[in-house]
Amino acid sequence: MIARTSHPQFPKSVHRLLIQRMAADHPKLESILKDVAVQVERHFFDSAGKRFAEFRNKHDRHMVVEEDVLFPVYESLTTDWETIAEMKQAHRLIRQLIDDAQSAISGWDGERFKKAYRDLLDALATHVMQEVVLLAEDLDSCLCAEEEPRPADGSLKLSS
Ligand SMILES: [Fe+2]
Ligand SMILES: [Fe+2]
Repeated sequence: MIARTSHPQFPKSVHRLLIQRMAADHPKLESILKDVAVQVERHFFDSAGKRFAEFRNKHDRHMVVEEDVLFPVYESLTTDWETIAEMKQAHRLIRQLIDDAQSAISGWDGERFKKAYRDLLDALATHVMQEVVLLAEDLDSCLCAEEEPRPADGSLKLSS
């Protein structure tokens, strides 16, 4: 169980560092997940289970940092609630698919795992693309910019 933080007020430099860390996490997490698929393909379900536990733990930590730190920062800078809601919904879907894949591995069910794995890869690819735009590009450039007065309508100027 990962302890949650509560809306921390870190300096911008810490947020920018976290954005970079999250971006660097994505390919590493995908690589672990692909290892799991290779183990399942070989019917090495015990080692697949161990590797999947590592993936799950690291991925959960990754999402918690996004949800507890980066999403609130984005929310504090924009009125684009719909996008944030989409990101949170994607995390819920990803958690569900991780549960499905975990259950398939525990049941030594290679076919069920294949479907969960494909769905999980698709969900992650779509979500990561959205995060690259939202966090690594828009939010980072906004945090990087010099302090400017916020527009009267509260909208975020996200030009690069
Ligand atoms: Fe992410
Ligand atoms: Fe995410």
